[in-house]
Order: sequence, then structure tokens, then C-alpha cells
Amino acid sequence: MSLTIALSKGKLLAGAEDLFRKAGMPFPASEGRRLVVPVDGLRFLLVKDMDVPTYVEHGVADCGIAGRDVLLEMEPDVYEPVDLGFGRCRLVVARPRGASAATGASTVRVATKYPRVASAHFLERGRSVEVVRLAGSVELAPGLGLADCIVDVVETGRTLEENGLEVVEDVAVSSARLIVNRASYHARREEMSGLVRALEKARTA
Ligand code: PRP
Repeated sequence: MSLTIALSKGKLLAGAEDLFRKAGMPFPASEGRRLVVPVDGLRFLLVKDMDVPTYVEHGVADCGIAGRDVLLEMEPDVYEPVDLGFGRCRLVVARPRGASAATGASTVRVATKYPRVASAHFLERGRSVEVVRLAGSVELAPGLGLADCIVDVVETGRTLEENGLEVVEDVAVSSARLIVNRASYHARREEMSGLVRALEKARTA
């Protein structure tokens, strides 16, 4: 049976393709629309970034590529053998430029795709928090009165800049990680070690 690899259809896809091609491994054609793609003895699943850990944890995929930001939020029970080095970004708290900081006593309303990470960040600092969960474009929320601030990933900073927001706190740093289903890691040790070695080598090439 082919090794099944879950990939995110989002921002990490281009970096994953670069790395796989450098490693001389097959990769799905970018213009395709199929979500299950067999290529030269491997099978790829193209899914939403937040769903990659679910497919891998449940063993539907043997392994996958997920951002550390997503792993911090989803906390899947998987192995994480390799930092693949691409997709570097920061998880931050950002708020409207020039807005005054919320006082310690008031509840912070935070819009985010990362409810668990955001709650933990504020609660660890003794701040009471109300999370407004959104699926994307969270930078809109403070300007429209839906939240005081956001917790989101920043790569170039352009989205924050163009929406009048500024970083006020760092939450975590992120990059793409290879994640592996625990049972597959043992049952398919040889194929898995081959994949890990090839990706590690391509990463440092
Ligand atoms: C991510 C993130 C920011 C943006 C940051 O969104 O949520 O909106 O990228 O990138 P930048 O700092 O380079 O501007 P994504 O493009 O994944 O879309 P989404 O808002 O629909 O989640």
C-alpha cells in the first residue's frame, strides 16, 4: 500500500513542493483539483491546514506537513520528527495602531483562528479573555468592533499593515513540521525513515 501524505492546500503548499522536488520525490501537479492524488507510489491528500493533524492522528494519512501554529492549536497525538524549515512565521497579538493597552482588570476580546492558543496566552498572563472564533480574515475584526485585538500569524506583516494593526506581543514562532502517525511510524519504519532522511537532506541541501 502507498504511503499516504496529508498536505495543506494553503500557504505551506509551495514550500512543500520545493522541498519534495529537491528531495527527488513525487508531488501532485499544482493545477489539479483532485483532493486524493496518487503520484508514483505515493498518495497525497490535499486538505485544510487545520485538518492535517486530524488525518494523521487518525491514521488516514501516515504523515503530513503542518505548521507549528496549527500543532499548538490542535495538540495532536503524533510524532513530529522534522522541522522542515520553511513556512516561518510568528503567532502574535495585534491591535489597532495607537490603541491603548487593555488594563489588567478588563476582559480582552480577541478574534482568532487559534482559540486554544489565544485563551492560554492571556490566561497565563492572568488576563481574562473572551475568544471570538473566526475562520479567516481576522484582521477585519478590531476595526469593525468585533474584538479588541487578534491572535494570528504574521509572515511579511503586510496584512496587519494594510488593515491598520500593529504587533503588541509575540505568542510563538512557527515553521512547517513533518508529522507522523504513531502506528505508521513503527509499522512502516523503513519507508518512514527513508522519507525523513530524504526530506532532512533536501532541507539542508
Ligand atoms: C494568513 C494570516 C494573515 C496573513 C499574514 O492568512 O491569517 O491573514 O496570512 O501574512 P502576511 O503577514 O504575510 O500579510 P491566510 O492567507 O492563510 O488566509 P486566511 O486569513 O483566510 O486564514
